[in-house]
Amino acid sequence: MSIPKIELHLHIEGAAPPAFIRGLAQEKGTNLEGVFNKDGSYRFENFNQFLSVYEAACTVLTGPDDFGRLTTAVLEQSIEQGVIYTEAFLSPDFCGGGDVGAWREYMHAMQEAAAKLPQIEMRGIITCIRHFGPDQAKTAAICARETAGEFITGFGMGGDEMQGTQGDFAYSFDMAREAGLRLTTHAGEWGGAESVWQAVRDLKVERIGHGVQAIDDPALVDHLAEHQIVLEVCPGSNVALGVYADWRSHPIERLRERGVPVTVSTDDPPFFHTTLSEEYDLLGHHFGWEEETIRAVNVTAANAAFCDAATRDKLLKALEPAS
Ligand code: HPA
Ligand code: ZN
Repeated sequence: MSIPKIELHLHIEGAAPPAFIRGLAQEKGTNLEGVFNKDGSYRFENFNQFLSVYEAACTVLTGPDDFGRLTTAVLEQSIEQGVIYTEAFLSPDFCGGGDVGAWREYMHAMQEAAAKLPQIEMRGIITCIRHFGPDQAKTAAICARETAGEFITGFGMGGDEMQGTQGDFAYSFDMAREAGLRLTTHAGEWGGAESVWQAVRDLKVERIGHGVQAIDDPALVDHLAEHQIVLEVCPGSNVALGVYADWRSHPIERLRERGVPVTVSTDDPPFFHTTLSEEYDLLGHHFGWEEETIRAVNVTAANAAFCDAATRDKLLKALEPAS
């Protein structure tokens, strides 16, 4: 497909090709027992196992240089998919343990790697991890506040949505907002419509990671549509993790039809055996998405991107149909 793509929801560590993680493990003599299947793919059967395997894979990413190399590998993968702009979730917890000085070095390594690839533009969303708790989240928020700027443009939260409430993290989100960062959080992937209400009400985010379970609450669907709160939808991730049994039952098209602004992303593509092109192919297959819809969804993503006006204009121009 020739339409350029904009991806708003991608975890940098979760986008690591398994061979890249295995290579680092070999270099460092780290035993990654249990992380891979015999065929070399990541091994997990449910969301909690996914989170454990994810964190185990991260143990081989031990310094800024590793994250620089990871960024190059991930962006090259995205370029191959026709992605011209990507926002990656970056976690200070995996990059120096929340220490601001260490984080700065990791961030510079990623920023430098991205700057070497002119085919794609990257921004970082600093992400706290919900199951590490609100105190640890504050260290991520401080890293975000201290490095907010051209490259770090957002703050968000991932991890186990069933731990605590969104509001437990309000202090960190307030700090990030005051530092000028734009906000998103994972909600309504596992925690139902109530978790999305919490995200909107208690964290005042302008985008929602996943948000798909909003479909179960018509008043919430209306609210998202009315306030144009953008969903970062990752259908392949939802199907792979069993949030929905299959593509046919995924609510993305019903949400879109009800006027909710939806965008399409891959979340952790090698974990879920997906690519952004495959996501659009399957949206075409199951919901009849054609070029016009795909272009419109990417325009929605460009308008919702956490970037400066000049970059947004460039993205919107790239999305104009050739005349
Ligand atoms: N959900 C929540 N947290 C995550 C995910 C996800 O899909 N991927 C990486 N961290
Ligand atoms: Zn995610």
